[in-house]
Amino acid sequence: MENIKSYVQQHKDRFIDELIELLKIPSVSADTAYSQDVIDTSEAVKVSLEKAGCDFVEICDTPGYPIVYGEKIIDKSLPTILVYGHYDVQPPDPMELWTSPPFEPVIKKTDIHPEGAIFARGSCDDKGQMYMHVKALEYMVQSNTLPCNVKFMIEGEEEIGSKSLSWFVERNQEKLKNDVILISDTGMISNQQPSITTGLRGLSYVEVEVTGPNRDLHSGLYGGAVANPINVLAKMIASLHDENNHITIPGFYDNVEELSLEERAEMAKAPFNLENYKKALDLNDVYGEKGYVTNERNSIRPTLDVNGIWGGYTGEGAKTVIASKAFAKISMRLVPNQDWEEITELFTKYFISLAPAGVTVKVKPHHGGQGYVTPIDSIGYKAANMAYTETFGVPAIPVRSGGSIPIVALFEKELKSKTILMGFGLDSDAIHSPNEHFGIFNYLKGIETIPLFYKYFVELSK
Ligand code: BES
Ligand code: MN
Ligand code: MN
Repeated sequence: MENIKSYVQQHKDRFIDELIELLKIPSVSADTAYSQDVIDTSEAVKVSLEKAGCDFVEICDTPGYPIVYGEKIIDKSLPTILVYGHYDVQPPDPMELWTSPPFEPVIKKTDIHPEGAIFARGSCDDKGQMYMHVKALEYMVQSNTLPCNVKFMIEGEEEIGSKSLSWFVERNQEKLKNDVILISDTGMISNQQPSITTGLRGLSYVEVEVTGPNRDLHSGLYGGAVANPINVLAKMIASLHDENNHITIPGFYDNVEELSLEERAEMAKAPFNLENYKKALDLNDVYGEKGYVTNERNSIRPTLDVNGIWGGYTGEGAKTVIASKAFAKISMRLVPNQDWEEITELFTKYFISLAPAGVTVKVKPHHGGQGYVTPIDSIGYKAANMAYTETFGVPAIPVRSGGSIPIVALFEKELKSKTILMGFGLDSDAIHSPNEHFGIFNYLKGIETIPLFYKYFVELSK
């Protein structure tokens, strides 16, 4: 029997070519102009699962984009691993900042990826990481080493809040029954130091609208005499943080768990270099909540950020105008125990209370989800750590991530199973940004590591 390392070496060119084909389809879920491409991608994922050796694959229709479900059940008495991933991607804009077109994948070398990285929207988040699981299955089927049952659930709405997936999970509990959920949609510390994500932040995403006069006005004739919605919105947003960068919404921190000094000391052991961090982002300093260091600010602490703000005249030259309306999109990253719906309500109440006379304010909730933390003494965590240790030569470090995959908390609630987040991306891979890429090293290492997770998970389950 061929081992995984030599299988990957022998087939790597094809593995890369297949991923490149998948990356060419612009499956942008946020923009309906791409809806046929999103649907085409689900079809391509279905075919890839059939070819890899699933014995049943179907496209499940939902109120939104389809979910691809596949399985290979070898023995009902053995454990079942449920693999989750997403085939949709973020919008590629701003287009002009890409050094090569987002849906024409090319391999380029970088300082961090001397062996080359595939540049394309979705290469790391999440088509590339999802496809590692398809190729890992191919290997296990070809080499007759699949040690347990496997189910795949690959969705097309992760980047827009996974609404249809919640609908699907609630209706298919029996079909999705499993012993552990395995996801590669996160990152790791570096190519020399693997890590396992043990926490995700929750999310509340809202859009706000401030309305002043019923039409745009001449800023000379009316300026100073009526509320300017953009001035007001800027002031309201500014007052959401105090001078220590604490969020001012009453009750916002009520359920936030304070980590003990021991836990914080443990976190501080993860390799992190502030100078390199600043250098990578061209920053002269970092910024954030007083009393916490960078790695705490972006993982165990909740945050509030404006993601977009608009209104008035932004075209070429100058136009003297007071806009009728101003808008902003605001996200709050939450930590476990903060309930996203409750936080959305607290935000709404407080934000409306900040409005001065002379404007009206509307808050429109978009989507959200709960945070997640998972223990490091579970069979799943141990199996993942054994797998990483074998392929990287060093044990993985547990890390709480700042990102969100809201569906993970729902899996625990609805399917009663734990999720293991085995990510292979790097923070520098520029997910959601122009020039997103995924290292060839990371892609192939992922394919090598996943079958070992299966092996150790089954062994430890006995
Ligand atoms: N894969 C990311 C989440 C992620 C990335 C978590 C890296 C940890 C490390 C996922 O596709 C994503 O972008 N999630 C969104 C939330 C979603 C509801 C739109 C996010 O975190 O902004
Ligand atoms: Mn993702
Ligand atoms: Mn994403």
